[in-house]
Amino acid sequence: MARQKIQAPKGVSEYLPPRSVAFEFVRNSLIDAARVAGYQLIELPVFEDTELFTRGVGESTDVVSKEMYTFEDRGGRSITLRPEGTAGVMRAVIEHGLDRGQLPAKLWYSGAFFRAERPQAGRYRQFYQVGVEAIGLNDPAIDAEIIAIADAGFKKIGLKKYRLDITSLGDAQSRAAHRVDLLQFIATLNLDEATSLRAALNPLRLFDDKRPEVRSAMEKAPLLLDYLNQASKEHFAQVRKFLDLLDISYTINPRMVRGLDYYTGTTFEFVHELLGAQSGIGGGGRYDGLMEELGGQALSGIGFGLGVDRALLAAEAEGIITGENFVSDLYIIPLGELAKEKALLIASGLRNAGKVVELAFGDRALKGAMKSADKSGARYVVVLGDEELSSESVELKNMNTGVSASVRIDSLIDAL
Ligand code: HAM
Repeated sequence: MARQKIQAPKGVSEYLPPRSVAFEFVRNSLIDAARVAGYQLIELPVFEDTELFTRGVGESTDVVSKEMYTFEDRGGRSITLRPEGTAGVMRAVIEHGLDRGQLPAKLWYSGAFFRAERPQAGRYRQFYQVGVEAIGLNDPAIDAEIIAIADAGFKKIGLKKYRLDITSLGDAQSRAAHRVDLLQFIATLNLDEATSLRAALNPLRLFDDKRPEVRSAMEKAPLLLDYLNQASKEHFAQVRKFLDLLDISYTINPRMVRGLDYYTGTTFEFVHELLGAQSGIGGGGRYDGLMEELGGQALSGIGFGLGVDRALLAAEAEGIITGENFVSDLYIIPLGELAKEKALLIASGLRNAGKVVELAFGDRALKGAMKSADKSGARYVVVLGDEELSSESVELKNMNTGVSASVRIDSLIDAL
């Protein structure tokens, strides 16, 4: 009896060939933008002490209160699969003293993140981000650089139909002043208990409430942007000046609320036009108190996380990526034992020289092997039989034009 098949857990994103080619392209485009700005790789565990996220990300957030994959490990410790990257980066920076070196510490990362959300198009329980963090300095030019890196990453992919929303959450003084008025305003609303509790933890969360009655009630709520003190106003004005200089267009959205509690000062989100409900392709901002909250010095930082899955969906929606296929340089079809040995040697030599070379396996007849070569999307094909072995030359067939040319085996590398 056939055994039952096992399926992937619900709501995870998976990338198989040929679509994985496009996924790789999207991810690498986003990473390249960070690399050319001098950011260096930080590779961290996908699981951390649960407290890192409850303290770092904040208990008023959906991410912490509803969406974490938390479990007890074999030693009875509470472990959580990382729902985001910033808290872990900050943990590592403090633990390994990167904040005592050259500042800002400029780091990038790429990998899987986990949130137990209700799965839908563009929203997964395991998803991929490329992120950067610049930690240790509070300079508006860094804010602009971070935003510019994200923008450059999306442009490298070729994306056009997205917009950038920015706002400022100000410094602690500005937020305190706003909080007094906002709480007073919220006290006049008729809220259920859960919502009131949320508001007590972080009243800004109410701006993010999707229920129409709360939305309309919040329309008259005081906006943090109107409460910025002189220093915060100045910082935000500088960021905007730099963005203008870089010709990066943006919309100021004073009602934007990020889903994580650590944000202060400049915050931003990239929103794609063609993605429907899950349209946020990336976001980030400054986090003044995070390092201290996690037991480090009182230094500021800023960063972003870009959704690789959503950036890929966006690229497909814009028609930039239309089933890109894997392309190899050469496909070798050996006929016979001796030819197989020679083919292995040729392939290994060319691969060492950086060429992508595939071999026909399984001793199939020439016709079948040619079909596989065709399907493989190789740019060139050679058949290696007795005649080719004795003359030490092959017919190099260009699969695009169908034209063949005789080439000596030892000069294949130049011909390719
Ligand atoms: P975030 O806005 O929660 O920020 O996530 C960043 C991006 O990850 C989102 O804009 C979205 O594209 C993608 N994303 C989030 N959740 C999902 C999901 N369930 N399925 C698919 N894609 C998703 C952060 O995570 C912050 N750590 C960013 C940051 C870094 N802020 C400062 N530094």
